[in-house]
Amino acid sequence: MDNRPQWGTRAGFILAAVGSAIGLGNIWRFPATAYENGGGAFFIPYLFALLTAGIPLLILEFTMGHKYKGSAPLSYARMNKKTEWLGWWQVAISFVISTYYAVIIAWALSYTVFSFNLKWGEDTQTFLLADYLQVGAAGEFGGIVPSVFLPLLVVWAVTLGVLFKGVKKGIEVANRIFIPTLCVLFLIIVIRALTLEGAADGLNAFFTPNWDRIADGSVWVAAYGQIFFSLSIAFAIMITYSSYLPKKSDITNNAFITGFGNSAFELLAGIGVFSALGFMAMQQGLPVDEVVKGGVILAFVVFPQIINEFPAFNQFFGFLFFGSLVLAGLTSLISIVETFVAGVQDKFKVSRTKAVAFGGGLSALISIMFATRGGLNFLDVADYFINQFGVALSGLIEVVVIVWVARELKNLQSHANSVSDIALGSWWKICLGFITPLVLGYMMIDNIIKNLTPETYYGDGGYSLSFLVSSGWVVAVGALVVGFLFTLKKWEPGALKVPSEKEVSK
Ligand code: ALA
Repeated sequence: MDNRPQWGTRAGFILAAVGSAIGLGNIWRFPATAYENGGGAFFIPYLFALLTAGIPLLILEFTMGHKYKGSAPLSYARMNKKTEWLGWWQVAISFVISTYYAVIIAWALSYTVFSFNLKWGEDTQTFLLADYLQVGAAGEFGGIVPSVFLPLLVVWAVTLGVLFKGVKKGIEVANRIFIPTLCVLFLIIVIRALTLEGAADGLNAFFTPNWDRIADGSVWVAAYGQIFFSLSIAFAIMITYSSYLPKKSDITNNAFITGFGNSAFELLAGIGVFSALGFMAMQQGLPVDEVVKGGVILAFVVFPQIINEFPAFNQFFGFLFFGSLVLAGLTSLISIVETFVAGVQDKFKVSRTKAVAFGGGLSALISIMFATRGGLNFLDVADYFINQFGVALSGLIEVVVIVWVARELKNLQSHANSVSDIALGSWWKICLGFITPLVLGYMMIDNIIKNLTPETYYGDGGYSLSFLVSSGWVVAVGALVVGFLFTLKKWEPGALKVPSEKEVSK
């Protein structure tokens, strides 16, 4: 008897998948990436990557989880024993991401509280770097920062608490509460931002295409990277979540709803953020491109500035914005941690409680490293390398192995078609068999060359090569090595047989 849990309802699954997809990547990564890569012209590569890689891969991962009813490593092993390492590699990537993702949510939690009295003051950059994070030299830990450590404990308590409760009573219930709340909070912010003075200038900057950039390969690279991160593809997440689906589930439709839902939210975030940037630019008498910043700085330096300048209810809007980041981040973190909870449970046959305590506990422990004075530097480099040479690379290898090495595409296609309303045809096969390997393959080679060239490797932060090797390359390659190590342990007898529907208890 297989005790695999199941989602309570279809809506429960979709909310969980959308909750995983909508995360920190949508709110602060997307707007800046779109702007840096040609503004309005970015939408063409973005839509291309969504339709030719994002959604086809999402369908592929949903189908694998549904057909093989296992965590990512178990599903890969059941499909073809020789591909199990890919599942563990993706689980290891998720593990690395979970360790710093939790810390960014912890910052957002602190900022939600700081909103009550706009504690960040006028000089928001000094407040973030010197007062709050107390950033020290790159490569040195320099002691734990209590103001980050305490909210980090809260983030882990909530995440592990939800996971202890299980799929239906924990993950599904949390997403049912968090995702609708997030949508309401975010809509309020976007509507307010749209009605601010100067919003139109911000939107113009966001939507006016810079056509010169469209022929630039790196713009396409950025679009693929964004789609993968944002859709939680090649993280082992979507395989794990769809393994909890009941037999009668419309895979293809669910994938379209998840993919378009995520992109709609992403676009909304872009509109909200750029309206607010347009407002700030007008207040400061600067052009919009001088106030746009990426990543951490956009959310934790520029946004507090915007909130300071709001005409009214500043504290309330600060609370809404950072509260939204917390909710979006938590639902993604829950899904990231669930990948290794499920992997450990399947392989080592331990209870969920033990898997959560051990897997989640270990990640929580390691995350303390990012709550030190050197945390921001470690985070910056680990995030860059694990995304480029973890998520994007394993996505590419996933497609090549499944389509061209294991030759499982047809098999998966018939499975998806046997349960879905929309039949998959040549669009799906051409995208996965040709377009994605070619375009992503190009992206990878281009990226690796760039990162091996001293003048252009991740040099923006002024990091030394030894720091990049120890915190970047070691982490990215380490995930792959760990993936292989986990395959050394043999499965319990019979574990690779796919349980029939009758054997799966609710
Ligand atoms: N998909 C998640 C995000 O966008 C990981 O943040």
